[in-house]
Amino acid sequence: MLDPRISLLRKKLENVKSIVLFGSGKGGVGKSVISSATSYILSERGYDVAYLDLDFHGPAGQSLFPVDIQFKGGREGVELPISDGVRVMSIGYFLGDNPFPLAGREKIDLLIDFFSILNIGKLDSIIIDLPPGMGDELTFTQRVFRDRVSIVAVTMDSELSLNVVEKLMKYIKTEKINFLGIIVNMVNLFREYNPKQIEKRLRGEVLGAVSYHPRLEEFKTIKSKLENVHEFRREIEHVVDDLLKRVNLLK
Ligand SMILES: Nc1ncnc2c1ncn2[C@@H]1O[C@H](COP(=O)(O)OP(=O)(O)OP(=O)(O)O)[C@@H](O)[C@H]1O
Ligand SMILES: [Mg+2]
Repeated sequence: MLDPRISLLRKKLENVKSIVLFGSGKGGVGKSVISSATSYILSERGYDVAYLDLDFHGPAGQSLFPVDIQFKGGREGVELPISDGVRVMSIGYFLGDNPFPLAGREKIDLLIDFFSILNIGKLDSIIIDLPPGMGDELTFTQRVFRDRVSIVAVTMDSELSLNVVEKLMKYIKTEKINFLGIIVNMVNLFREYNPKQIEKRLRGEVLGAVSYHPRLEEFKTIKSKLENVHEFRREIEHVVDDLLKRVNLLK
């Protein structure tokens, strides 16, 4: 029998126009930086966006989108706090420096709880920052929210990264997930960037490219990274322009 909590989750997100996953399969390729920057720029352009960090073991949300308020709850659930203009939620706000191991069923239960306790309301888009791998966070979200979910694949232009993302691309096709495109991060770091070659290998369209910007490390929040590293901001603006052509968020 279908878990009744799943129907409630579907209902909870029925007023969200689009749910966009940023995944990779591979770790450390820039999913968090790019998904948070995309959320920030979208909200700057007037879209009602929430950034949800589904990386329970290595959350980044608390650094990229700091919040200094007490979490508030009402009848509809915990309100998503606003950080630098973006509605946000991350387990990182509650963990401090503590490790957070989860095994087996605990992960699914936490995923259900995570969405259940939130007051999501009406939104143009939920941007989901996935952890590395193709585990429950990806499969659960995709199976619960089904055709409402789209995915962006983030990769680096390195052999090891492309090998893993190739597998994700096969999974996306097999599962018929609405595919928005590939973002190649740190393009200038490994070899001469050749998007056509990447498209051929991954069998998917490249949505955008982001260069390696060593200065990004100097700044903690995504707002300060975007404000101080202008070329990074310009590249993310491009990514957002192209994303908006593929996701219908028109006001
Ligand atoms: N274009 C870039 N230029 C320079 N540094 C970058 C760039 N993109 C990401 N980084 C840095 O690389 C590291 C990994 O990025 P990030 O945490 O976004 O990757 P991730 O894919 O989310 O990792 P994980 O798989 O652990 O969730 C971070 O320190 C981030 O600041
Ligand atoms: Mg991450």
